[in-house]
Amino acid sequence: MIELRKITGDNIDEIIALKVEENQEDYIETTNLRSFADAHMLNADGIPANPIAVYVDGVAVGFLMYIYDTLDHESFENEVFYGKKSYFIWHIMIDKSYQGKGYGKLAFEKMLMDIETMPYGEAEYVSLFYRTSNVKAKTLYASFGFVDTGIIQDNSMLAIKNLDEKITKSIVERKDISERNVSFQRLDP
Ligand SMILES: CC(C)(COP(=O)(O)OP(=O)(O)OC[C@H]1O[C@@H](n2cnc3c(N)ncnc32)[C@H](O)[C@@H]1OP(=O)(O)O)[C@@H](O)C(=O)NCCC(=O)NCCS
Repeated sequence: MIELRKITGDNIDEIIALKVEENQEDYIETTNLRSFADAHMLNADGIPANPIAVYVDGVAVGFLMYIYDTLDHESFENEVFYGKKSYFIWHIMIDKSYQGKGYGKLAFEKMLMDIETMPYGEAEYVSLFYRTSNVKAKTLYASFGFVDTGIIQDNSMLAIKNLDEKITKSIVERKDISERNVSFQRLDP
């Protein structure tokens, strides 16, 4: 069973210990420890950040994090989404031992469902960057309706999903979530 859990003093060591393959390190540019630290710094600066642990049958397998922010980078100035609120996916990884088993997709779906409740405020978009060479990530995001913007920074593509439509509705309807043995824990900070 997949669960999304808060990261606490009880499980932080398990999350820090998770690693991607060496040749995947460039895809995430950071570590779980650094991302967790980023979450605390962002929260302290008034930018809500939600770091999330992914568990399968009680075993830590991955780490996700999103923040709630404004799409106001100068390179977005001519875009329709400039200045709009967005839930931005900061970090997503599944430990190298547990990849390719469907856990990343299920965990991502659950995170999107949490975002869909607009836990930190209204937003028009959910957005993320992925390395253009990261075919697995590109395929995963496209399967949830993320669209490439064409904006590339440091070899990473900005992909975006409009929150007008329910992100996960079609996916959830396609296959009842309870049949997939998935549970979800509220992630309020
Ligand atoms: C990307 C990542 C989170 C995906 O998690 P995962 O558990 O390995 O992936 P899943 O088994 O859930 O597969 C998810 C989807 O990825 C895509 N995918 C998986 N393997 C793929 C491959 N070899 N080629 C293309 N797409 C692939 C598919 O869309 C797949 O869904 P499907 O099986 O329904 O078609 C994980 O592999 C990872 O941590 N990679 C290293 C870090 C990283 O790249 N993070 C993303 C940064 S933007």
